[in-house]
Amino acid sequence: MIFDTHAHYDDEAFDEDREEVFQEIREAGVGLVTNIGSTLESAKESVRLSGQYDFIYAAVGVHPSEVEELTEKDMEWLCEAAALEKVVAIGEIGLDYHYDEPSKELQKKWFLRQLEIAKEVSLPVCIHSRDAAADTLEFMRKAHADGIGGVIHCYSYGIEHAREYLDMGYYLGIGGVVTFKNGKKLKEVVAYAPLSQLVLETDAPYLSPEPYRGKRNHSGRLPLVAEAIAALKEMDVSEVIRVTTENAKRLYRLD
Ligand code: NI
Repeated sequence: MIFDTHAHYDDEAFDEDREEVFQEIREAGVGLVTNIGSTLESAKESVRLSGQYDFIYAAVGVHPSEVEELTEKDMEWLCEAAALEKVVAIGEIGLDYHYDEPSKELQKKWFLRQLEIAKEVSLPVCIHSRDAAADTLEFMRKAHADGIGGVIHCYSYGIEHAREYLDMGYYLGIGGVVTFKNGKKLKEVVAYAPLSQLVLETDAPYLSPEPYRGKRNHSGRLPLVAEAIAALKEMDVSEVIRVTTENAKRLYRLD
């Protein structure tokens, strides 16, 4: 059974056929999905989806690119939502310096605040970090994030940073990029990291694996990601699926 640890099924890309997609991914062997909030609205939608579907869990949090208008009142909602039974993580939160806005200062403020909330409510975090390797690590250390636990979603840095996150007990989220021709850096990380700290993720509707790169992604394509990991680690694809699903349950504390 496959566990997709990071998807956005609240996205409008699924508005036309969400029900059909869910049926398709279940038939493809996907047993569990964590739907991840990126804005406050999508966090609310994630909670709603988790209430409607047995196989969906929710993460609530605000993506670094979406923090511009956040308020402390929004953080109150986050704390309340965190108490719901099917809310399993705070995320996605982090730093994204790919674009100039929102400012680094604002991103850092809300990253730290949401890390604090995760600690308060005793939930793991889903970390989004792009072009911000040094600051992400610095802030995680500042917040004693090793005591919080979680996953570095869509892991995109090299082996040295991977070592730091692995030593903090974090999982690395591996998705479609591992199948890309230009995914060499990630392939090295996957070969290097212990399978016991890898989890599968789609980031659907984004980051479809080859040969569907550029098309709308869904969890039913995760066998392609598992196959790429199996090839790099020279093991059976069924073993990759079995172990990453166990890891995901441990990550989201589902047992
Ligand atoms: Ni995402």
